[in-house]
Amino acid sequence: MGSNETFTENEEAPTYAPWIPVPNVQELVREDPLQVPQRYVRELEDRPTVTDMPHLSSLVPVIDLSLLLLGNKEELNKLDLACQDWGFFHVVNHGVAKELLQKMKDAAAEFFELPLEEKNKYAMPSNDIQGYGHAYVVSEEQILDWSDALILVVHPSHYRKLKFWPNSPIGLQEIIEEYSNAIRKVATELFQSLSLIMGMDKEDLLGLHKQLMQGYRVNYYPPCSKPDHVLGISPHSDSSTITILMQDDDVCGLQLKHYNEWVPVNPIPDALVVNVGDIIEMWSNGKYKSIEHRAVANDNKARVSYATFLYPHDEAEIEPLNHMMDPKTKQQIYKKVKYGDYLRNSMKKLEGKEHTEMAKVETLA
Ligand code: OGA
Ligand code: NI
Repeated sequence: MGSNETFTENEEAPTYAPWIPVPNVQELVREDPLQVPQRYVRELEDRPTVTDMPHLSSLVPVIDLSLLLLGNKEELNKLDLACQDWGFFHVVNHGVAKELLQKMKDAAAEFFELPLEEKNKYAMPSNDIQGYGHAYVVSEEQILDWSDALILVVHPSHYRKLKFWPNSPIGLQEIIEEYSNAIRKVATELFQSLSLIMGMDKEDLLGLHKQLMQGYRVNYYPPCSKPDHVLGISPHSDSSTITILMQDDDVCGLQLKHYNEWVPVNPIPDALVVNVGDIIEMWSNGKYKSIEHRAVANDNKARVSYATFLYPHDEAEIEPLNHMMDPKTKQQIYKKVKYGDYLRNSMKKLEGKEHTEMAKVETLA
């Protein structure tokens, strides 16, 4: 199925989405750690509360990749349930060296500690989403996230815009490359197991991408003097196939929406967090869920998270797989969309699940 030959190296890198310039949050905090400007303050019902379900955090499924690679039936079954019920799981025994994870964290932490002028050498231009800045700011009225980010397209390599790849601290570019290659391997291995539980041959899911695209987003969440008034990142689902996230080992922040309750995804040291993205939800005709998630801020600690997005080529046509529809009703929940159209549409506002709703068959939406 792999059909990479259709897309040549001459193909130009697409642009993604424009955004409105907003303040750098790390700098706001540096200037006055107590200020929380009104544009960051959430409506009461959107604020994080102490009643978010911390006791459920330990129920987020843990998947052992080494068992999946051996074709272990029980583990495949666990993966199937995790994708249906949680849309999220931790991955252990993923094969990525602990030293590499640490190297990535150390280098990124050093980047964020640089003076603003230094970081702004890689500033995101207003018509695109690559570089250091704030994605998805589409209106002056929008309540802003308590975070800054570095966003890069990593694959295919001819889409890279190296001017946004920081070369300080020295070696960061190489570390991003090395880390991204290791995560790509984890992703392709996960795709093999996901193919199996979706009733296909091992390599089919990869083939459906036409070309496996990879984006990288390092989120920096500064401390906040009123963490219960703000959100680090607004509730959203990812418009990816899957997302693979590395978190700090000792700072919490990520929360997922499980049956209408916010559940923290507390870090398991050295594990990776994987979530099902919108495209798996669409291919599986809604069987596997692209779950809404958000990040909360902390009052005394900054948090950094490292999100790798795997997604199809812009030209790939996405529609529910025939064999994943109910054999009796054959009811198709999602209509056919070109991935590039879907992605750009969802980028108009990365919030909630509105973008998956748009892709639903009219009569059901
Ligand atoms: C994201 C995301 C969560 C986190 O970057 O899409 O959901 O914990 N990040 O930073
Ligand atoms: Ni996300």
